[in-house]
Amino acid sequence: MIGTGYVGLVSGACFSDFGHDVTCVDKDAGKIDALKRGTMPIFEPGLDQLVERNVRGGRLGFTTDLKEGVAGADAIFIAVGTPSRRGDGHADLSYVFGAAREIAEALTGPAVIVTKSTVPVGTGDEVERILHEVAPGTDTWVVSNPEFLREGAAIEDFKRPDRIVLGTENDDAAEIMREVYRPLYLNKAPLLFTSRRTAELIKYAANAFLATKITFINEVADLCEAVGADVQDVARGIGLDNRIGSKFLHAGPGYGGSCFPKDTLALLKTAEDYEAPLRIVESVVKVNDARKRAMGRKIINALGGEGRGKTVALLGLTFKPNTDDMRDAPSLSIVQALQDGGANVRGYDPEGMEQARPMMPGVEFCTSPYAAAEGADAVVLVTEWDVLRALDLPRLTRRMADPVFVDLRNVYPPEDIEEAGLRWFGVGRPARGSQAAE
Ligand SMILES: NC(=O)c1ccc[n+]([C@@H]2O[C@H](COP(=O)([O-])OP(=O)(O)OC[C@H]3O[C@@H](n4cnc5c(N)ncnc54)[C@H](O)[C@@H]3O)[C@@H](O)[C@H]2O)c1
Repeated sequence: MIGTGYVGLVSGACFSDFGHDVTCVDKDAGKIDALKRGTMPIFEPGLDQLVERNVRGGRLGFTTDLKEGVAGADAIFIAVGTPSRRGDGHADLSYVFGAAREIAEALTGPAVIVTKSTVPVGTGDEVERILHEVAPGTDTWVVSNPEFLREGAAIEDFKRPDRIVLGTENDDAAEIMREVYRPLYLNKAPLLFTSRRTAELIKYAANAFLATKITFINEVADLCEAVGADVQDVARGIGLDNRIGSKFLHAGPGYGGSCFPKDTLALLKTAEDYEAPLRIVESVVKVNDARKRAMGRKIINALGGEGRGKTVALLGLTFKPNTDDMRDAPSLSIVQALQDGGANVRGYDPEGMEQARPMMPGVEFCTSPYAAAEGADAVVLVTEWDVLRALDLPRLTRRMADPVFVDLRNVYPPEDIEEAGLRWFGVGRPARGSQAAE
């Protein structure tokens, strides 16, 4: 497994749990040293026990030496990052091509090279070209196997996937991939064999569709606020229709994270390059970007329209619960908008503060939600961690200077908030009391 990040580490640990011998390789010596000591470089529920069990069983190892990992391997997975390229939004493929080159130099025999990183259509062709150039005469097959796991539920997703997409038209490669995934296949996870280009596109189309669903309900939420309807009920009312489905219909502060923002942009670049514009996705990206900043204005409006001199406590900073990943989290845009409006911002997150600190200059980090609320003019629920779903609301109220509670995830019933003496503001729900009269 080349690249031991969120995807590489989880995939490697799960493959070893299936009984395969796995070596996870990473250039980051700090990460590999930590893993050798048994310390996880990321927060992902259940990962430490899974890794520990398989290291103890002698099936899982870690190294910075790619040659050691590649020697004798039947399947070599590329799971390195594909961030947005600075300036133009194309996927930056330098890590993928770099890894392909190093793999080619390290090959000791025939192998399947599997791209697990999310890569634009045609990347597999280029990886194949690199392999033929650097290791001519070695039998290699390049397969696309995009990963669909979600951070925070990564192990469960990897072990019980809705489908496994395998882009190859070569029988030998298909046989090895069937072998690698056999335990899941026995569990009846459908293996979907497609052409390599199709597999590459499936991943982007899936993420763009999910981003569209979120953005759709977010715009409907704005309309609900304007007409006095309730987006929670609209989402339920449409989601119960099987053709629509209830997932990804939760109105909130906009999508973020390490995948949707960069993958939607990269897909648009592919569409542009091939002169097949994806206008819906173009709108989704624009609407979502605007929304993240609009949340800052929403909070300032809840404060009576003036942010200067006010103190705002943000609860939950990661882009979603159960991860410490801060990449493109909506909280980053919210902090910026609040600071631009002159507010002092405090933050609390159960797992993400170490990652958040360098990304949020000027924010005061607190040890608990109650410490963050001390003397605050507003508390904002940004990310719905379990510990933030069961706050002691009266305790929060007692600590605040002005009891404004902005629930950007619609976690709390407005009545509970008001009963605790707080003024409630939600997303896409009818205004209440004095707000309704204004
Ligand atoms: N994070 C997710 O939830 C998720 C889900 C599905 C797909 N993906 C995709 O999977 C890929 C990896 O994402 P991630 O979040 O795991 O990234 P990450 O940044 O957490 O990890 C990537 C790792 O690769 C290492 N690396 C880079 N070049 C290397 C090389 N030549 N040799 C060895 N190691 C090298 C880096 O040091 C880093 O540790 C991306 O393409 C991403 O889009 C991510």
